[in-house]
Amino acid sequence: MPGEKYTVLMVNGPNLGYIGRRDPGTYGTRGMDAVQTILEKDRPGLLDRIELNYFQANGEGEIIDRLEKAWKDNVQGLVINPGAYTHTSLALGDCLAWINIPHVEVHLSNIWSREEIRRQNLTAAHSLGVIAGFGIMSYVLGIEALVWYLDSL
Ligand code: DQA
Repeated sequence: MPGEKYTVLMVNGPNLGYIGRRDPGTYGTRGMDAVQTILEKDRPGLLDRIELNYFQANGEGEIIDRLEKAWKDNVQGLVINPGAYTHTSLALGDCLAWINIPHVEVHLSNIWSREEIRRQNLTAAHSLGVIAGFGIMSYVLGIEALVWYLDSL
């Protein structure tokens, strides 16, 4: 509902604990702290609309446990970068399907312009949509898209 403040969980999967340091040529030089900075500086109106929590884990089970907790806590929306589990994890895809929390899948890189294996995607079918290729800005755009969707309900 427009004007409502939404609870949003941002989830990063494996190897996304050091964004900004890991392979900057592919993933960029800015870290997750830049998401908060961009929101505060450029999108204060958007930041006011959400109660944002962050979670990162390398293990598949840990991520699924956190998503189940989000379901129990009635979290209203997710922005999730499943990292390499995007391409391999039926378990994560199954989880996203059953918890049925509206979510936007994001990727720093354009996964379709890279190796063939990255075109296989076991998670995106359960998302509202995918934003990929804009570096750290993918997360900001993901929040924007999510709030737009939640406002339309
Ligand atoms: C990624 C893309 C994946 O293919 C890769 O395994 C990652 C990061 C991205 O944000 O571009 O770990 O999800």
